[in-house]
Amino acid sequence: MRSVAFAACLFCATTASAADTNIYHAGPSSPLASTRQAWIDLNKNEKKDAYEDPSRPVAKRVDDLLKRMTLDEKIGQLWQVNYDTNADKTFAEKLKRGAIGSFLDSSALIENPVMRNKLQHIAVEQSRLGIPLILGHDVIHGFRTVFPIPLAEACAWEPVLFERTQTIAAREAAAAGIDWTFAPMVDLARDPRWGRIAEGFGEDPWLGALAAAASVRGFQGTNVADPDRVVACLKHFAGYGAAEGGRDYNTTEISEFTLRNFYLPQFKAGLDAGALTVMSAFNDLSGMPASGNRHTLTEILRGEWHFPGYVISDWAAVGELVDHGVAANDADAARLGLTSGVDMEMVSTTYPDTLAQQIKTGKISEKVLDEAVRRVLTVKFEKGLFDHPYADETRCRTAFLRPDAIALAREAAAKSCVLLKNENGVLPISKETKTIALIGPFAEDAEELAGPWSSRGHADDIVSLAAGIRAKLSAVTQLTVVRGCSIIERDSGKPRRHIADSTKITERPTGASEIADAIAVARAADVVVMALGEPRNWSGEDGSRSTLGLSGRQQELFGAVAATGKPVIVILFSGRPLAVPEIQNKAAAILEAWFPGVQGGNGVADVLFGDVNPAGRLTTTFPNSVGQVPVYYNHFSTGRPGTGEYKGNYADGPTAPLYPFGFGLTYTKFDYGKVRLDSPMVKPAGKLVAHLMLTNTGSRAGTETVQLYIRAIAASAGTRPVHELKGFQKILLQPGESRDVTFNLSADDLGYYDTRGNWLVEPGKYQLWLAKDSASGQPAGFELVK
Ligand code: NOJ
Repeated sequence: MRSVAFAACLFCATTASAADTNIYHAGPSSPLASTRQAWIDLNKNEKKDAYEDPSRPVAKRVDDLLKRMTLDEKIGQLWQVNYDTNADKTFAEKLKRGAIGSFLDSSALIENPVMRNKLQHIAVEQSRLGIPLILGHDVIHGFRTVFPIPLAEACAWEPVLFERTQTIAAREAAAAGIDWTFAPMVDLARDPRWGRIAEGFGEDPWLGALAAAASVRGFQGTNVADPDRVVACLKHFAGYGAAEGGRDYNTTEISEFTLRNFYLPQFKAGLDAGALTVMSAFNDLSGMPASGNRHTLTEILRGEWHFPGYVISDWAAVGELVDHGVAANDADAARLGLTSGVDMEMVSTTYPDTLAQQIKTGKISEKVLDEAVRRVLTVKFEKGLFDHPYADETRCRTAFLRPDAIALAREAAAKSCVLLKNENGVLPISKETKTIALIGPFAEDAEELAGPWSSRGHADDIVSLAAGIRAKLSAVTQLTVVRGCSIIERDSGKPRRHIADSTKITERPTGASEIADAIAVARAADVVVMALGEPRNWSGEDGSRSTLGLSGRQQELFGAVAATGKPVIVILFSGRPLAVPEIQNKAAAILEAWFPGVQGGNGVADVLFGDVNPAGRLTTTFPNSVGQVPVYYNHFSTGRPGTGEYKGNYADGPTAPLYPFGFGLTYTKFDYGKVRLDSPMVKPAGKLVAHLMLTNTGSRAGTETVQLYIRAIAASAGTRPVHELKGFQKILLQPGESRDVTFNLSADDLGYYDTRGNWLVEPGKYQLWLAKDSASGQPAGFELVK
């Protein structure tokens, strides 16, 4: 048992008033080191309570601790507070009372665990029971080593890449004292207007599920208590990605059938991989806000899936139940949140303000509270916080941007690139080219390449595209870089912000002759590369758009440069699919580079100059226009599939998307043979074996991603999609090489969910494609027999 009296006596060298504020001066040579050692030595002789004994099973330790907690201490575990640089002073008194369970580090400044340890010392040594805090932070695509945004990395079609990058993100974050990341974001998104599409894996639930599981493995490893690992959090439960109009925080209306088959599978996969926490979403889900939604949070998450970890609300989402109009006041909001299944409240204060009274008066059963506290404590024990509450304060000196992290960031940036067009083999660029013009506002702007949610990324660490290209060239090449125009015009749209401190960027307006200068530079060059896109903070949270073109005057710049008649190579930097049909029409080559992170310039240059043959494939459909949105490949079959007289096409523009799901080119060519099935009949316990002869008919080695899609011809519980991805293989072939690519499909791969969550595998007819994208190939028919 730790007692306040004991702690006060131990620290008697410090005055009582100092002890109330900032008595801990962390760091190896600080007074803390000796004081803390004395505390540890004394504590060794003290009789441990059962919950303090690491040799006991976690469940027993939780039981023991729970029995000792007062009502207020229990409620304290369910409240997460926004951390600031003065947190030790502002919150010391609350920490001593055990009134805070967790901090959320939303600042972008702190890269060492000193402050975290200060707070932890107060919680562990000066509160009655010494329950440690858990510190959370948004480590979305890297900590100091910023990797490509998740939507980009998903285009590698290599789930293990997420495991590798998130392992490094966890290592760096943990060295800074972070225990818990609010990632991965596993929201399925079909609407590129929604800025948070950048944080997810795209529009396919099957591929997304692989990425979700790999991300969780990367963050948590095989032992989450390892000091290099952080607790993962699957967010935002549920349906957040279906925001109407693509407007962030907006209402979502999702049928149970669609929810089960499209929006939930990535959460389930993340939980199966061991994710210990889940975040409840901001949005209203079909008439009940997700953070007060008993159906998803309790019936599905706990009832059907037996999730043992805890749920944290999104930022103030419990308090916002009042704004949603489903709670009349904070007390109602707290009751709805807690009884629906939100265990921990982020930032808003309805739990600490109202739960005690509601429990005392019997409005909420203490059992509900106990269950929530049990879940929170269980994760804290599993993370090892009771036994090792303090972070090593020296590791952060050497943990960031290590050579393996930098090498992986470069590899991931190159693997994320998707080649969308390459007329006459204009790419790759020869390193012997005499003059290269690099034009556009993303050419030298390194900071934008970090993308949204760049955690502790520093602008100075980022390699710009110009720097990446320069590093490829010998003295014979003259590289001329001109901006052409600014990324946004002043006062048009959301202002840009610096990554380090979030202050507004002072936009340098497009100069009077900038576009004319760009034209002149293009005319004089042998090769013209344009670096175009959208600002990084137009995607991510609250980064919605109503248009999907290039920002500012970039379209005009592109038109002017393309009008010179020079073949133009366009590199796109964006957090979403852009609708850019004019660029598709006029550019000679297009490379989608997304927001590629700290090694962006090098990774993209590797592809531009052919050191890496691009192998990325889209995981979201690119629309031709905003009016087509939502447009996604795995839509349900309709009664009029576009073959009869009444087609359901747009009268005023294309119906087909600009680029379909799965699309991407390489610097070589692949020939697809005919799909062959070992047998067109498959039994429930058997396997369907499908083959395809794949040949590299080009002159370079290259990797092709062969994609397996199916379609159920008839299903009893609901309409099935026209195509569903169920497998893929990345095949590296040398020029002229052929390979028989074989897929095994089990009956289970043909299943789907009914509205109650039952997995149905139905006998009947199916089609199968082995194709280079979701819009190609010829189907082969087969039947699942009883
Ligand atoms: C709000 C965002 O929606 C969520 O994704 C994030 O984790 C929290 N803020 C904490 O920063």
